[in-house]
Amino acid sequence: MNSFTYDYPVRNYFGEGAMDQALDAELARMGETVMLAYGGGSVKRTGVYDRVVEKLTGAGKRVVDFGGIMSNPTYEKCQEGAALAREEQVDFILAVGGGSVFDCCKVVSAQAMLDEDIEGYEHVQGKVPSSFIPMGCIVTLSGTGAEQNNGAVITNEETHVKGAFVGALPTWAALDPALTLTVPHAQFMSGAFDTLSHCMESYFGSPRGRNVTDDINLAIQKNVIRNMRVVAEDDQSLEARSELVYDSAMAENGVLKIGKATDFQAHMIQHQYGAYTHTNHGMGLAVIHPALYRHLAPEAPEQFARWASEVWGVDAAGKGDLAVALEGIDRLQAFIGEMGLPTSFAEMGSDASDETLRKVADTCVLTGGCAKKLKRDEVFQILIECR
Ligand code: NZQ
Ligand code: ZN
Repeated sequence: MNSFTYDYPVRNYFGEGAMDQALDAELARMGETVMLAYGGGSVKRTGVYDRVVEKLTGAGKRVVDFGGIMSNPTYEKCQEGAALAREEQVDFILAVGGGSVFDCCKVVSAQAMLDEDIEGYEHVQGKVPSSFIPMGCIVTLSGTGAEQNNGAVITNEETHVKGAFVGALPTWAALDPALTLTVPHAQFMSGAFDTLSHCMESYFGSPRGRNVTDDINLAIQKNVIRNMRVVAEDDQSLEARSELVYDSAMAENGVLKIGKATDFQAHMIQHQYGAYTHTNHGMGLAVIHPALYRHLAPEAPEQFARWASEVWGVDAAGKGDLAVALEGIDRLQAFIGEMGLPTSFAEMGSDASDETLRKVADTCVLTGGCAKKLKRDEVFQILIECR
């Protein structure tokens, strides 16, 4: 393993009733003016919005409403939120939703404290913001684990880049699995696959070989798979959803990245595919992973073979590492189909023209942490195989 420093400041409230418990404990530390941020309206339909507003107003807070945060949030929306936060002199941002709401708020929090445009500040000048409006997260949809870190993925619609920003790290997060029961089945499964993807992208990073980080990682992958199968049969299983909410947090709280350089090549391809097609994150990953891994397995057969045996139960007896690895990838693909997730762009009903795929291949970030650094033509080939 590489040397590491690990510091974990997010206070997590987990379990049924965690939202109320978190608000009761945190309200006194939230200041007078709270920005209540949310997505396209599910929080209003489920009653979560009313419950939160009641708590906030009951504690004498002034509530600034910031709704309409779309899936795959845009840079423009972040700027709208930052301007509102400044104008209303917001003391605290309360983000209620999934990854899109959290990511948008992380950037709102940083941009509101910056005089310069945050995109130029981070992506051109290479600086990292250091002042933030404090924020907390109420998780209504798990999968991204975005409530556990300070990374944000934001789409600039003008430049067609879905890029990473460093934003605020939430000071606390409420993970109440019961709040996820209203998430539509396909969306919940897509989120759960995103968690599996985060695990895989960390496991296949370097250095490879036996270490405690990878051992924990493989255990979480097995847990995700087992519980996705339970939810596939019994959509409202609170027990299985609870496990998956915790898996989601574990995959992105840094534990699985300790002592490793992670890769996230599948994510980099998906993000750009999403920037051009506005499609669902977890579903895009489900399509991309098997095709990508068939290209990468020959470069790291031992690591892939261990994963195939331990996670997917491939019998390795009498077979070479690469054969075992490829069998594992076949099982991953079969699992994706079994879970009702798409296995091709055609199944997603999304644009997979040569022109679009070429743009994605030419603009996605190429990482080097997983087995090998891909060339753009190979990314294009992988995307063709996803059709
Ligand atoms: O917008 P509303 O109406 O709230 O509906 C949402 C949305 O349509 C709905 N939803 C959420 N909670 C619900 C619910 N519907 C019913 N009941 C509930 N309790 O779910 C839909 C999807 O929400 P969204 O937040 O877009 O999904 P997700 O959590 O998958 O987030 C995706 C975004 O996160 C980024 C992705 O790229 C994408 O932009 N990611 C962020 C990461 C991070 N910061 O660490 C890591 C990830 O790899 C990912 O890249
Ligand atoms: Zn993801």
